[in-house]
Amino acid sequence: MAKRMVLNTDIRKGTINRNIYGHFAEHLGRCIYEGIWVGEDSPIANTKGIRNDVVEALKEIKIPVLRWPGGCFADEYHWKDGIGPREGRKRMINTHWGGTVENNHFGTHEFMELCAMLECEPYINGNVGSGTVQEMSEWVEYLTFNGVSPMAELRQESGREEPWSVTYFGVGNENWGCGGNMRPEYYADLYRRYQTYVRNYGDNKIHRIACGANADDYNWTEVLMREATRFMDSITLHYYTLPTGEWQTKGAATGFETKEWFSTLEKALHMDELVTRHSVIMDKYDPEKRVGLIVDEWGTWYDVEPGTNPGFLYQQNSIRDALVAGLTLNIFHKHSDRVRMANIAQTINVLQAVILTEGEKMILTPTYHVFNMYKVHQDAELLDLALESGTYSFEGREIPEVSASASVTAEGVIHVSLCNLNHAAAAKLPLELRGLAGQAAEVTGTTLAGTAIDAHNTFSEPEAVAPQPFTAFQLEDGVLSLELPPMSVTVLEIKTK
Ligand code: AHR
Repeated sequence: MAKRMVLNTDIRKGTINRNIYGHFAEHLGRCIYEGIWVGEDSPIANTKGIRNDVVEALKEIKIPVLRWPGGCFADEYHWKDGIGPREGRKRMINTHWGGTVENNHFGTHEFMELCAMLECEPYINGNVGSGTVQEMSEWVEYLTFNGVSPMAELRQESGREEPWSVTYFGVGNENWGCGGNMRPEYYADLYRRYQTYVRNYGDNKIHRIACGANADDYNWTEVLMREATRFMDSITLHYYTLPTGEWQTKGAATGFETKEWFSTLEKALHMDELVTRHSVIMDKYDPEKRVGLIVDEWGTWYDVEPGTNPGFLYQQNSIRDALVAGLTLNIFHKHSDRVRMANIAQTINVLQAVILTEGEKMILTPTYHVFNMYKVHQDAELLDLALESGTYSFEGREIPEVSASASVTAEGVIHVSLCNLNHAAAAKLPLELRGLAGQAAEVTGTTLAGTAIDAHNTFSEPEAVAPQPFTAFQLEDGVLSLELPPMSVTVLEIKTK
């Protein structure tokens, strides 16, 4: 099928919330401990116990918001165990993730310090599954109350005089599963109750986030929206991409066959249908679109790397992950009227990580590079882009060959992000630039491509998959003729003169 794109540079379709580029860091495997927190006495270069190299890399991609402490861990976490002198903090079992001992050395103060270093917003997920209303209420008081109160005093005794500013607060996580195995009717009532005591203190206004559905559980969204819309600012959605679709044997992160390349991208594209259908339900109860949809867990989930702890969810990250990231972010852009935040799972050493570490070594994954290339879309205006994507088929199944999205910055610079999902062939297609009112355009580009379907970076070859200048285009009479390499993610920058 013929492929072509028409970009209406003068038709704007709303802002792409920068929080769509958010991240998620859980007390799971080596994400927090080793990936972020090494402690003040570590030989690994750190500031107040937090790795310098990781902070620098995350700042580069302008991480806007960070969700913590879980995940399933959130509904087992008791925040008071993670404050005060570190040596005196309680040790607990991390029952979900490998049964390891959690020493609580990374707690509220350390997390807020990390967010300050990253210059990002904190998104704190409270405990509904095994925590009390009082505990959740007191956490918010501890974090945000400026005045005389038991929790403000406790915070001051723990070394922090001023309250912090916290906007995003989640009331439970996956309460249909690891967060308490609840029915939506029961959770809806609990949500209404717990959120009542999540107070706004002074100028601090909390954005209350209700636990939403697992993938295509549309009934969960229906019940929550029916029973609790007026008590929430956002509701969540979780969806992971498994190559086989089976939790027992998900498929490997590297060394896989073309069949799994294709099925992974096919399953990642399912995000579009999920967001569309959950949004239709939300539209019924919230036609003004006041409530946001937050996809606060998404990404690939493979079998763990051979020889690693199955509870640590450590996996490699290849050019296939870069494609999943690129096409998923394009989908979120398209739905930016409803999708106000998304948090890839997880930042470091867990699932679709942007960074992997091994002791003092650190590498950037292909997914990291996509976040870096796409950061130009943060808070930009979505542009109207008509795409005839062509088809990419494998063993009788078909998916679009190209995924694309475009935006314009406040300064008038246009960016177009393009994914060629085809593992074997370049995608040649014209991009017609309309609405430039005769202005000449100056085009540059960056591309991330693979030399094999599982091309990836390792500690001995950290630059095997790295962005390169993109030059395979020609501009003539307002039409850009593009040749996107096989299995590639490309971002074009178009400046008018
Ligand atoms: O990201 C790993 C886990 O996946 C999270 O803890 C949980 O919320 C989800 O099931």
